[in-house]
Amino acid sequence: MLEELVTYVAPQSNENQLILDLTFGGGGHTVELAKRYPQAKILAVDQDPEAFENGQKRIKEEGLEDRIDLRKGNFSNVIQIHELEKDSLDGVIADLGVSSHHFDSPERGFSFRFEGPLDMRMDVDNTEITAADVLNDFSAKEIEEILSSYAQERFSRRIAENIVEKRKEEKFENTKQLENLVFHCYPKKMRFGKTHPATKTFQALRIYVNRELDVISETIPQLIDYIKPGGSFAIISFHSLEDRIVKTEFRKMAKEMGIVDLISKKPLLPTENEIIENSRSRSAKLRVVKKKS
Ligand SMILES: C[S@@+](CC[C@H](N)C(=O)[O-])C[C@H]1O[C@@H](n2cnc3c(N)ncnc32)[C@H](O)[C@@H]1O
Repeated sequence: MLEELVTYVAPQSNENQLILDLTFGGGGHTVELAKRYPQAKILAVDQDPEAFENGQKRIKEEGLEDRIDLRKGNFSNVIQIHELEKDSLDGVIADLGVSSHHFDSPERGFSFRFEGPLDMRMDVDNTEITAADVLNDFSAKEIEEILSSYAQERFSRRIAENIVEKRKEEKFENTKQLENLVFHCYPKKMRFGKTHPATKTFQALRIYVNRELDVISETIPQLIDYIKPGGSFAIISFHSLEDRIVKTEFRKMAKEMGIVDLISKKPLLPTENEIIENSRSRSAKLRVVKKKS
């Protein structure tokens, strides 16, 4: 959906072209914006120190230091981080969640495919609670609540109770301990389905540790004042909980406040070809609003 995303946030006029990317990641979207709109300046943030450092290198290698301003931080603080001015942005994009880099780095603990520490923090410098802290210190009720709220895990109670039992013998330290426990909490006939039993537990812990849903609902209404009339706000989400928040916040601004138009009632979905090229895109949804002139 790169093409749609980049097209929706096209600059409004030839002057003071400014686009904001809330989730720099590997820089794919930011760099594409910089190349597509040669007169625009692109502001970007990412809270992950590795994404930030690799990003600075990439910007240099691409010779785009004058065009892209990448800062490290949570997008919920982007107004302060980039000292944004009201009605200044031609467009804002966000590509929510974790990056493939996170899933592919065993030492970050996001994936049960590898053995690694149960960390799961994107912003390792400023987030205090790790996934291991939740598993070792929270009550069974609290863990159950996290698993059911952030992943609708149907075996949340059983998993939570087993975690609390197991930690009496040994602390939770690595991803494989948790994967193994969740696997055995699933009924035998459900253990080898299309989705691994640990998928939801890992998703829920990651969302909790990084406050992923809270920051989305905090940020969307704040940023709209900083977009120029006629400018767009485009967000790609990867699971239904994120999409529900984006949909609700966008509808509120469109229907109750009357300050934006919804570009489409239904979210835009990736094409068959995009899904073949990148299987992780299969659950992506793009929603866009345009600020009224
Ligand atoms: C799906 S990736 C973005 C990929 C990017 N669009 C690209 O083309 O490479 C999401 C990125 O957003 C970052 N991120 C997620 N939530 C964030 C937040 N609240 N504040 C800042 N960065 C965040 C993650 O660290 C990750 O690098």
